[in-house]
Amino acid sequence: MCGIVGYTGKTPAINLIIDGLKRLEYRGYDSAGIAIPIQKSEKLFVEKRAGKLQILSNSLTNVPKSNAGIGHTRWATHGGPTDLNAHPHLDESGKLAVIHNGIIENYLEIRRQLESAGHKYLSETDTESVAHLLADAYKRNGSDLSAAMREVCQQLRGSFTLLAIHSDHPDLIVGARRNSPLVVGVGNGENFLASDVSAFISHTKKALELGQDQVVSITPEKISVTDLKGLAVKPKDFEISWDAKAAERGGFTHFMLKEIYEQPKAIADTLLISKSISESMNKAKQNSGLNLNIDLSEIKKIVFIACGTAYHAGLVGKYVIEAWTKISVDVELASEYRYREPAISKSTLIVPISQSGETMDTLMAMRYAQKNGAKILSICNTNGSTIPRESDAVIYTAAGPEIAVASTKAFVTQLIAIYLLGIHFAKLHNSLTQKEIDQILSELDALPAKVEQVLETVEPLREMTRKFKDAASMLFIGRGVGFPTVLEGALKLKELAYMHAEGFAGGELKHGPIALIENGTPVVALLPSEESVINEKMLSNIQEVKARGANVIIISDHEVKNFDLQIRIPTCSELLQPILAVIPLQVIAYEMAVARGNDVDQPRNLAKSVTVE
Ligand code: F6R
Repeated sequence: MCGIVGYTGKTPAINLIIDGLKRLEYRGYDSAGIAIPIQKSEKLFVEKRAGKLQILSNSLTNVPKSNAGIGHTRWATHGGPTDLNAHPHLDESGKLAVIHNGIIENYLEIRRQLESAGHKYLSETDTESVAHLLADAYKRNGSDLSAAMREVCQQLRGSFTLLAIHSDHPDLIVGARRNSPLVVGVGNGENFLASDVSAFISHTKKALELGQDQVVSITPEKISVTDLKGLAVKPKDFEISWDAKAAERGGFTHFMLKEIYEQPKAIADTLLISKSISESMNKAKQNSGLNLNIDLSEIKKIVFIACGTAYHAGLVGKYVIEAWTKISVDVELASEYRYREPAISKSTLIVPISQSGETMDTLMAMRYAQKNGAKILSICNTNGSTIPRESDAVIYTAAGPEIAVASTKAFVTQLIAIYLLGIHFAKLHNSLTQKEIDQILSELDALPAKVEQVLETVEPLREMTRKFKDAASMLFIGRGVGFPTVLEGALKLKELAYMHAEGFAGGELKHGPIALIENGTPVVALLPSEESVINEKMLSNIQEVKARGANVIIISDHEVKNFDLQIRIPTCSELLQPILAVIPLQVIAYEMAVARGNDVDQPRNLAKSVTVE
């Protein structure tokens, strides 16, 4: 949600900023803008446009040469996606510009005060208040933009990443953050600020993490960070392991398709780093895999907290960890968790799951649990992001950058992390024999090749999907771990195809949802292996919908006769099956989005990194 880029250095800023914004497009946005200082000029050069970045780029003619500037992609919250509401926002003098990600909760109160003091507003945004506040504070603080930023941040409530520039200081950018991401890219004679590292990985791999309520100022040669009182802070540095190539489409028509095909590698990489770390258990290690420097032996209850796809991974985790360890597992929607009164004790382990590591609902739920005494072990794909930084321990997944808004490879790697966590607890509690553990580990190792096999057989599914492109609705049924898997299939279809889709536990159909079935309703049914006790139950559920006219598409590892289409997936043990079964579901959603002419990588109304509650 909202992309932020700042650059100050030795080369013209405009191309670097636009390129950085392009790399942040995946976060989701509906307008874009830039501001650059012009040497020896009173005013800043500013251009902002509703719509895609291309519209902004097309309007960038006669851009003055400047080696610094800021750029923004906005996902509308306060005020619609219009040119005027797009960022940057300026003070009345036109000398100071601000861009912002997040929400200023007390903006109305501030706006009333500033308007009665004579300030004139041009937009409906919460951000414009920050521009006016900063301009006043700048005057009060002897033209010191960093001091002004510190003063203003103390007046703001809510979440924000802010960047500001002033025409008096053409190579200076000042940033600040609270509950919203901001990283510094450290270059040679040039420095960057961005919402995430993808914006600058093609220029530098060196980065600095900024903590809560910190203010940073960058010039080409200098980076300084302080807290809100102005005391110097030493930020934590880290090396970015992703390469720029990984964040490009590499010949695929869409990032989503590329990421679907990257899943074998993502799984293999996650297995590799997580296992190597589990061997050095209890040794705090940065940047890699299973970093379990907390004592898990006292844990009596595990609670996964997450949103969307990551929540579905947690639901699979409940089946897996309870089966392997008999430890009680709850799965909570992060957005609900802290607004009820959940039972939390010192023996509760909270496991936030998040691809981005910045999802505000998950972060707030995690902080709530932490405050109430729980230990936090997060599962996260993004190094340097807030959730792992504030956790007691982390399992990093190795999906690499996930650019498409719809999550695919992050989901399967989250499952791998959960399996490894389950094995770890099973070892601690002696709930599985070594032979059983070895069997699971060798099955996990076989998964990348099996996912490849699935990917080789999805062509008929793509054809079939196109036939259903005008269907009003599509239903998904499964049982056991197949149930959260079909929930994920339905979510994928909703977000990409803008089509009504729902996932049901097969056994629940007769309690209501079967009323939805009419002649021709497409139903995707996920079957466990033939030996499973729920296989026959699922077959009966399939008969029930078939008898009412449904077109049934079966995903299974064994031959089933008499259905409209069957996608065969390789055999594996039941609890690992979601990894294989989710692939055809991702392909259905992808193909449906293409067939319906939708924007696959940036579906309408959605953002990749949801940094507001
Ligand atoms: C769905 C999707 C979202 C995210 C959810 C959590 O395809 O991408 O449902 O899974 O917003 O995001 P993270 O994992 O970044 O916390």
